[in-house]
Amino acid sequence: MGKPGAAPVVPRHVAIIMDGNGRWAQQHHLPRLSGHEAGRKSVKQVVQAAIDHGVKYLTLYAFSVENWQRPREEVQGLMGLLRGVIREELSEMGKEGIRLRTIGRRQDLPEAVREELEAAIEKTKHHTRLDLILALSYGSRVEITEAVQSIAREVKAGALDPEKIKEETVASHLYTKDIPDPDLLIRTSGEMRVSNFLLWQISYAEIHVTPVLWPDFGKKEFADALADYARRERRFGGI
Ligand code: IPE
Ligand code: IPE
Ligand code: MG
Repeated sequence: MGKPGAAPVVPRHVAIIMDGNGRWAQQHHLPRLSGHEAGRKSVKQVVQAAIDHGVKYLTLYAFSVENWQRPREEVQGLMGLLRGVIREELSEMGKEGIRLRTIGRRQDLPEAVREELEAAIEKTKHHTRLDLILALSYGSRVEITEAVQSIAREVKAGALDPEKIKEETVASHLYTKDIPDPDLLIRTSGEMRVSNFLLWQISYAEIHVTPVLWPDFGKKEFADALADYARRERRFGGI
């Protein structure tokens, strides 16, 4: 990989921090929610592009545990948008062979959203073309904290010897237990930070930050990120 003439390698798992909707709305003199609505088109394009390129797992950071602190109208607007997207895109997910999944504290979501999500997850669970993973009420530190609690309970019950706790033990208690680690992490809107996203899982992910705001991110920008990834030399600590 990264060597002249080497075949371009497609990442198996791409994770995206979809950022910049608010700034996009501001630039267009629109309310913040219009920015989130405009971001919907980018989600559709990126999902299609991921399928076209042969990516198998696509994780989208849609709402963080910290995002609950935003103004009530924005949170409600986002939840309404999410519910609408799931309902309206369900048949498309069927046609495209998309398996919908989530990571995060699903119990925090309003019941109407949760029901819509759970129905879609159930209906799409046998699809194999692309795993579309929505990070909702997701926070990496809370994920790791919950994993530690669960491991501690097993130790306390005598089911697990602390000396036998390995990296795999920790990984198997995360929301992502049956999902391979991301190969490529994309962040839009130019912010050079991880914002509590998949801290454990991105240990060796390649990072692509683009100044493009999420509502302006489409198929071409996704292809550019994949091309950037294909040029990288992944070493995993070796030489
Ligand atoms: C990302 O866009 C979407 C969510 C966090 C839900 P932002 O809403 O964070 O947009 P900016 O960062 O304010 O531009
Ligand atoms: C990260 O974006 C969360 C999502 C994209 C859902 P934020 O806009 O919430 O993160 P910060 O505030 O820039 O760190
Ligand atoms: Mg932001």
